[in-house]
Amino acid sequence: MPAIGEVIWAGGNGLRMGAQWDWTGCAPRCQNAAMRSADTVPSVRGEPPTVDAALTVSHLTKRFGERTAFEDVSFAVNRGEVFGFLGPNGAGKTTMVRTLGTLIAPTAGSAVVAGIPLAPGASGAIRRRIATMPENPGLYLRLTVQENLELFASLYGVRAPRARIAAALETVHLAARSHDLCRSLSKGLRQRVGLARALLSEPTILFLDEPTAGLDPVAAREVHDLINGLRQRGVTVFLTTHRLEEAERLCDRVAILNTRLRSVGRPEALRAALFRGSLVVETAAPLPAPGAVFTTQQGVQGWSSEGPSSYVLRVADPRLAAPGVTRALVAAGADVVSITEARHSLEDVYLQLIDEDPEVRR
Ligand SMILES: Nc1ncnc2c1ncn2[C@@H]1O[C@H](COP(=O)(O)OP(=O)(O)OP(=O)(O)O)[C@@H](O)[C@H]1O
Ligand SMILES: [Mg+2]
Repeated sequence: MPAIGEVIWAGGNGLRMGAQWDWTGCAPRCQNAAMRSADTVPSVRGEPPTVDAALTVSHLTKRFGERTAFEDVSFAVNRGEVFGFLGPNGAGKTTMVRTLGTLIAPTAGSAVVAGIPLAPGASGAIRRRIATMPENPGLYLRLTVQENLELFASLYGVRAPRARIAAALETVHLAARSHDLCRSLSKGLRQRVGLARALLSEPTILFLDEPTAGLDPVAAREVHDLINGLRQRGVTVFLTTHRLEEAERLCDRVAILNTRLRSVGRPEALRAALFRGSLVVETAAPLPAPGAVFTTQQGVQGWSSEGPSSYVLRVADPRLAAPGVTRALVAAGADVVSITEARHSLEDVYLQLIDEDPEVRR
């Protein structure tokens, strides 16, 4: 299990698992899934899996006939973590959520969800500990919000449902709309009913499949606040999203999937592992001899011109290199407009990984 801060590249995080189920034949088989070494890019740091994981997934594969939804995926999610699951359309995210939510059986591999190994017969026990908010909330539109929640509370066997429903509605700021027909609610409000429904059973792991898709910025921000609130209550959140700024803001770690897992790590660790340090220098006028200024500086490994008076310097450590570069520019008579560390967003990381993906891009 990767410790927080660690970057694991695809294929590099073997997880030690014991007896496993091959659901294709529904027969138990023993295999030591752990010992596969990295077959693509190496893990930055290897650590044994934590015993405190909310979720461990080991070499999991799901195929629909000839089509592979995801293949040989391994990762683990810490308890109380908000874990982002990113990837292009068709990457296998929803199928992963449906598999871990026990709606469909994997083709191969294994997983432990909320402490229970994913296996035929374990669905009921797993479902009692988790909740899923699917891409489409799937509410009964001719029932009111309250009636929908009462129905699902009875299906889940929720004790003291009235109080639980009231609390869930309060959490999603929908108490005032509880007697409205779901048909009359906007998309964002229906999403919130879906979230309230997911909270009814007080899950230890909450799977949210694109919870902010189609929401306006204010409604999306409210969902973000709700997710942060859940984090504070110790709920583990597994979040699929296409909003990379959302993942960056909310997630402790993110996984990037494109049928196979491309990487897992904290956003800043992924950035550091993928992009080398660089300084962006802007001067009031073009430098007559930029090479003479930059290449003599300690810590500067290379430079390029990005415009008439804009330069990007490749450096080992931007904070160490910046003062010397500033002094050299001033000594060369340059008017410095700015020297900044180049910032790479999670979007840059995502695009770089998907762009260089040797496998199918769909
Ligand atoms: N029931 C199914 N039968 C056949 N193929 C399926 C089924 N469900 C999913 N797939 C296929 O599996 C692949 C992964 O689909 P999935 O819905 O998991 O992608 P996703 O990452 O959630 O995409 P999106 O970002 O568009 O929601 C796709 O090629 C999809 O067509
Ligand atoms: Mg999906």
